[in-house]
Amino acid sequence: MHPTLNIAVTAARRAGDIITRSLDRNGRIAVQQKHMNDFVTEIDQLAEKDIIATIRRAYPTHSILAEESGRHRGDDHQWIIDPLDGTTNFIHGFPHFAISIAVQYRGQLEHAVIYDPIRQELFTATRGAGAKLNDYRIRVGQRKQLSECLMGTGFPYRSHEHLASYLRGFAMMMPQCTGIRRAGSAALDLAYVAAGRLDGFWEMDLHPWDIAAGALIIKEAGGIITDLHGGENYLKDGNVIAANAKIHKEMLTIIKPA
Ligand code: IPD
Ligand code: CA
Ligand code: CA
Repeated sequence: MHPTLNIAVTAARRAGDIITRSLDRNGRIAVQQKHMNDFVTEIDQLAEKDIIATIRRAYPTHSILAEESGRHRGDDHQWIIDPLDGTTNFIHGFPHFAISIAVQYRGQLEHAVIYDPIRQELFTATRGAGAKLNDYRIRVGQRKQLSECLMGTGFPYRSHEHLASYLRGFAMMMPQCTGIRRAGSAALDLAYVAAGRLDGFWEMDLHPWDIAAGALIIKEAGGIITDLHGGENYLKDGNVIAANAKIHKEMLTIIKPA
């Protein structure tokens, strides 16, 4: 394993331990509201602090962008961290959330980890070296017809500005595929596309820390991830469509006009 990926994995596993240990506290966790339907717990903050400390010990000069503490300026290496993706699930004891950590060098994604601490599933990728789930190589699903596909999505629950256009796309997608899941962690949704558990995923209005690690893992698993126009701007505009090449094309023709 590349030494940088190794540090990312260590950071993700340590954060996973912090999160799972807190589950014993049975709801006695401080929660603050950031915006409408957008929450942060003391565990998000503790996990993020620990991840940053792990990175800082190994790479004191690297830049960091982390959901809860923002930008920490440094050199051309940029870590992008979501310490707990799926906070709403976590708060409600719905056991589906993850830690997402990506590393870019001069704007290019180089390493990625998404760790599900409940199932102890570690999704990793290094650019050019493929994607793995624990010790096994993963590939995106190979289905060719949308009618055979299980899709994942995320609802625009924080701001209702895009709700109408989202629902138009949803209404067009629904009758054309086998099923649609909304599991509540965009990072895990992307990891599941990489592992072929979901055949495709789309969501609007995400943040770079929701997407960065999943984007590299999907690409290294042979998949395609783009913005809603089929372009590369997804880390900036927060809109993503991901699948294998064939299904991605079909998804784009359904979602883009909506
Ligand atoms: C959220 C989750 C959710 C997605 C939201 C994200 P958070 O991340 O990924 O599935 O629909 O848009 O913000 O706030 O739990 O880290
Ligand atoms: Ca997130
Ligand atoms: Ca988060």
